[in-house]
Amino acid sequence: MESPHLEQLEHTFAQHYRTLRGAYLVRAPGRVNLIGDHVDYSGLSVLPMALQRHVAILYCERHDSTVRVVSTDPNYTLRSFDLGPSIEPYPEGDWGNYAKAAGQALAQRCGELRGFDAAVHSDIPVAAGLSSSSALVVAAALAVLHANDIEMEKLLLAELLTEAEHYVGTRGGGMDQAICLAARRGSASRIDFNPLRLTAHPIPPDWGFIVAFSLVRAEKSATGRETYNLRTRECRDALQRVTAALQLADRIDSYPALMAELPPADLVSRAEEALEGTLLRRFRHVVSEADRVHRAERALIDYDLKGFGRLMTESHESLRDDFAVSCPELDELVEITLRAGAAGARLTGAGLGGCVVTLVTERRANKVLKALAKRFYASREFEGRLEDQLFLAEPSAGASVAAL
Ligand code: GLA
Repeated sequence: MESPHLEQLEHTFAQHYRTLRGAYLVRAPGRVNLIGDHVDYSGLSVLPMALQRHVAILYCERHDSTVRVVSTDPNYTLRSFDLGPSIEPYPEGDWGNYAKAAGQALAQRCGELRGFDAAVHSDIPVAAGLSSSSALVVAAALAVLHANDIEMEKLLLAELLTEAEHYVGTRGGGMDQAICLAARRGSASRIDFNPLRLTAHPIPPDWGFIVAFSLVRAEKSATGRETYNLRTRECRDALQRVTAALQLADRIDSYPALMAELPPADLVSRAEEALEGTLLRRFRHVVSEADRVHRAERALIDYDLKGFGRLMTESHESLRDDFAVSCPELDELVEITLRAGAAGARLTGAGLGGCVVTLVTERRANKVLKALAKRFYASREFEGRLEDQLFLAEPSAGASVAAL
């Protein structure tokens, strides 16, 4: 971790608590999904990588069950609660609920637990679709486990924390927790669900992924959440209608099982008979995106930059036209990067705001970064530095705990 961040953490810790003796540092990365959005909650594979940006927690264990957390960001003031199987939440939107979510889930599973005093620092842009909330839940969970000398298998913990995020009102498909915990440095990972499994693939040395924030914070807004939940229902309804029409309903109840029956193009043409309008478009996105993930994985293994880029751009078009989760700012970012010579670009994460991810050759990276700075950011106002909205992603390792 960059030392200015560590200094900030130590300073905040010292301001609120006692000595740092016996302190540990937990780091949980944000993520960018390279391809495969809005398919994980249908049980279909995705291909994200962890970022060099983290939630970091500096903590000292306590001898009772109290957890105290405070942030280096003065907007997030001290929170204090006791660990237990049924923790009363703070009001909706309170940052302390992310630590409570982890604490309650682990107390339900592991019984009585010791708490800790902690300072939190994050350099993952908040509500930008880079999974800063899941990183906070993961970091808090690792602090609880480590303070109690409990070892838990990463993927088991990822599944537990996917459920645990219900506590803050959202339940994603499980991609974020899995990549945050189990990512490998230098690689992207294909994540399969039911059972959860990660397969790491090295990112070719001359490929670069640029992350550009649209400056639209939608993921945690009421509309963002409603749209997300609506899409999960639409996907389920579409599946039921298609399996009923194909007379497969008695033995097929998931997208992966359906996709094992027929090739994607055939499924879409059969769906055209069973569905129309919105549900047909949602279904077409899910099935075509699942297919793109597998082709993109192949392209990654073959170092086929053009092929991978083309699939990313197709994915964006599908998320925009069939899944209706883009917005003008995301479309504009994609257009700017493609015009500047990127191999491909797409919105990443839940959409309706958040970030775009763009594939470039190392040689082209500066040109694309400059085009974005000039054509998108120069005319807009934003908080913080340009480097926080626009940066080259470094494929990073999953979460860790280390003695200070
Ligand atoms: C959010 C969820 C993920 C996933 C993406 C869309 O980030 O947390 O599980 O569904 O949206 O791909």
